[in-house]
Amino acid sequence: MSSNRIPLPPPYRIKVVEPIPFLSPQQRREAITAAGYNPFNLRADQITVDLLSDSGTGASSAAQEAAAALGDESYAGARSFFRFRDAAAELTGYPYLLPVHQGRAGERVLFANLLRPGQICISNTHFDTTHANVEMAGAEARDLPCREAADLDSLEPFKGNIDLDALERTLAGPDGSRVGLVLMTITNNGLGAQPVSMANLEAVAAICRRYSTPFFLDAARFAENAWLVRQKEDGYQDLTPQQIATRAFELADGCLISLKKDGLTAIGGLIGLRDEELFGRCEANLIATEGFTTYGGLAGRDLERLAQGLREVVDPAYLSSRAEQTARFARMINEAGVDTVQPAGIHALYLNAGRLLPHLSPGEFPGHSLVCQLYLDGGIRSAELGSLYLGALDADHRVVTPAPFELVRLAIPRRVYTEEHFAYVAAVLGAIAKNPERIRGYRIASAPERLRHFKVRLEPLP
Ligand code: F0G
Repeated sequence: MSSNRIPLPPPYRIKVVEPIPFLSPQQRREAITAAGYNPFNLRADQITVDLLSDSGTGASSAAQEAAAALGDESYAGARSFFRFRDAAAELTGYPYLLPVHQGRAGERVLFANLLRPGQICISNTHFDTTHANVEMAGAEARDLPCREAADLDSLEPFKGNIDLDALERTLAGPDGSRVGLVLMTITNNGLGAQPVSMANLEAVAAICRRYSTPFFLDAARFAENAWLVRQKEDGYQDLTPQQIATRAFELADGCLISLKKDGLTAIGGLIGLRDEELFGRCEANLIATEGFTTYGGLAGRDLERLAQGLREVVDPAYLSSRAEQTARFARMINEAGVDTVQPAGIHALYLNAGRLLPHLSPGEFPGHSLVCQLYLDGGIRSAELGSLYLGALDADHRVVTPAPFELVRLAIPRRVYTEEHFAYVAAVLGAIAKNPERIRGYRIASAPERLRHFKVRLEPLP
């Protein structure tokens, strides 16, 4: 196939555009200072290229907007729900499906009915809100990433996997009876957007069956994981991304999906279940806290966009061009002198800020310094994934135990930015990499107890 050699362009062209602002260096300095050096406090109209998140930030298609016009806003039994349910059932195969307004709502509803206080939830890596929702259910969130994940430069294909030996040891050991759930995050957002292999999922399913432990997928990026499986794992080359995703769902007892990613919509989520009794309990909770069974916090218009988005996202031409786009962006950044977690995943790149800024100790938050510099120099918004996010702090907000790595995530919204935007980001990074010693560290001025990174305020060190 000639397409193996010449990458095809994205299978869409741009129909509607939105202007982006360009602030002066002085305006950017004022903006980030007023934001307490926390990019979550910036206004979107102060940002030139926004790589904070790939969640809910994608572009809608003409077909999605046309479908939205047909949205049925009936309180119960809306046509739009059944279209959404059919698309979700075809993809996941689960008999019981509950819409929710976003992923974390699904986490709250499911964990309230599946986890008991004192239990343990095991994952390859919990996403931050997932971690928080496990704890809010009174349980412990325990990550067991595979060993290969610890080497940021290794080209191992499935660094998103769980450590199967550690999982088995935990289930067989003294904590085994307390494990209430095994939750596999595909792709592994907390660990470099690395994919999880089907072989790993099959092994997890077999272990969970042996210990009668519920096994769920946190499948926010189910299509991107399926694409990487198709590219990298033997035996999947002849299956479609949808078939691979469906096979992954088949292995589990249920799923949570934030549909703000691979649903290709601004809002939405899903709980998928096999167990009728658990469904009944979750449904009662959903009706009390999210909305009736046939809308779960979503408008008919959203359900229509989702029904269409779930079909568009598994298009091989779309997934191939998105994966290529990320791979090219990684090469531009690496050639500009900044290392990224290898190999490149699809929804985000993770910059190795610790290596770029060795003059800053973890307590001076090198990842955060790079986040601020990207904004100051280029109006680019990104997210720290280092000691500011994950480190253990003392009462004075000083780092006691640093994070294992000091990373910065550049998340890539779907169908939004062009090659020139990525070249611009790589050029800003290249200029930073030429003279990294000028970059100062930061200290925390104030921080909340839970989910620190969202509300923390900082100041530059003198
Ligand atoms: N699970 C994973 C793996 C996620 O990446 C996210 C969100 C959620 C659950 C929660 O879903 O936002 O719809 O409530 N991730 C976004 C991100 C916010 O930027 O990575 P939500």
